[in-house]
Amino acid sequence: MKTARFSRVGFVLAAAGSAVGLGNVWKFPYMTGENGGGAFVLVYLATIILIGVVLFLGEVIMGRLSRKDSVSAFRNLAPKNGHIWKYSGLMVFTGIMILSFYTVVLGWIFKYIVISFNNLPVSATESGMLFGSIIGTNVPNQIIYFSLAFLLTFFIVSKGVKRGIERINLILMPLLILILLVLLIYAINLDGFTQAVSFMFNPDFSKIKGMTILKALGQAFFTLSLGVGCIMTYASSLSDNTNLYRSSLMVAAMDTFIAILAGLIIFTFTFHFGVEPSGGPGLVFVSLPPLFNEMGTFGTIVSLLFFIALAFAGLTSAISLVEPSISFIINNTKLTRFQGLVIIGIVTYILGFMALLSNVKDLKEYVTFFNTGFFDILDFLSSSILMPIGGILVAVFVGFFIQKDKLRALLVPDMGEFIFKTWHFGIRYIVPFGVFLVMINQLFFS
Ligand code: TRP
Repeated sequence: MKTARFSRVGFVLAAAGSAVGLGNVWKFPYMTGENGGGAFVLVYLATIILIGVVLFLGEVIMGRLSRKDSVSAFRNLAPKNGHIWKYSGLMVFTGIMILSFYTVVLGWIFKYIVISFNNLPVSATESGMLFGSIIGTNVPNQIIYFSLAFLLTFFIVSKGVKRGIERINLILMPLLILILLVLLIYAINLDGFTQAVSFMFNPDFSKIKGMTILKALGQAFFTLSLGVGCIMTYASSLSDNTNLYRSSLMVAAMDTFIAILAGLIIFTFTFHFGVEPSGGPGLVFVSLPPLFNEMGTFGTIVSLLFFIALAFAGLTSAISLVEPSISFIINNTKLTRFQGLVIIGIVTYILGFMALLSNVKDLKEYVTFFNTGFFDILDFLSSSILMPIGGILVAVFVGFFIQKDKLRALLVPDMGEFIFKTWHFGIRYIVPFGVFLVMINQLFFS
């Protein structure tokens, strides 16, 4: 079956839909809070530029040249030993690991849409207790929201209404940015704002601890949807005349802008309400709702729109996590799209369910291994190990195994010779060695 191609802006929309998600608004602020503020942000920005954008373009090229799923891309583009290279494409399954805890968090967002209507917490303490009870004690309720997030994601992928969702995103992404800007204006007038700016942009290098760089790297991969063949799969439907370089830059810029914006807002309210910035995955859910409450009726509307827009941003990202595996299954096995979805759905649901239980007070001991809850295990394994490895494989493959002339023909018209050379150096040396060194150093020597 010949798959439909994206329109010129279609790819940017789809890739931005994948990149912009809970990673920007939920994960980035709490990672920054947990890992020392400004120092983390600095390392994160450096990794986005030096590694993220370079690799993003690498994935785009593999998809665009092969026009197939990740496994086929490695197999078909390899000059020789395609039967060995193809295993690199199995990185698509990292996406399923990510998806399983991603849908748990998406479930929390759904819950907060409902909370927006009638019981926004009045204080930080109450807000913290509310979040604690949502993830820690009210299990049946959480299972319902998680299942809803799960079903919605798989329903959309099964119907192939991706295009429709992307179109909705075309409205909701600007809405999300607009709401964030409104919140920012509100934030600028609070005392917490100066503190937030200094927390985020005044790096204290003594705060760079063992894992900081690896975490920043993982976050850069996560937020740009790298290392699992997601961007590669989307790029396989690129139209011939899309400017690859400009599209990649646009997606990365938009993604970074939204993360920074979300960080500034959330930290302002964190300091304003005296919440701990290092509070972990609950940060957004604890620091924002009391503010919405303080804003009165207008706050209810803003809260509602905020969580709805975030839910859509999360959904388009969730969809993009399923697509690479499905694309692999359809192209490489005899299974149909639907059968593939059922198998992947079952695995996702089981893993997600375990992740959910690992936050529950009385049950977490059953899903804790090596002293770490299953939710955190999935997150650590994917962001700090599997995605970086996927990234190294893509970089080495594009840098050393795809003919330079082929790359040049594709890229130089868009980016010029100088940037092309710089990029090629980056993907050959900086990305693989950089990522490798960071991983080894932090996993074994810290
Ligand atoms: N980038 C998305 C976010 O920030 C999450 C995501 C979608 C993702 N596809 C991915 C993360 C592929 C890693 C790999 O929310």
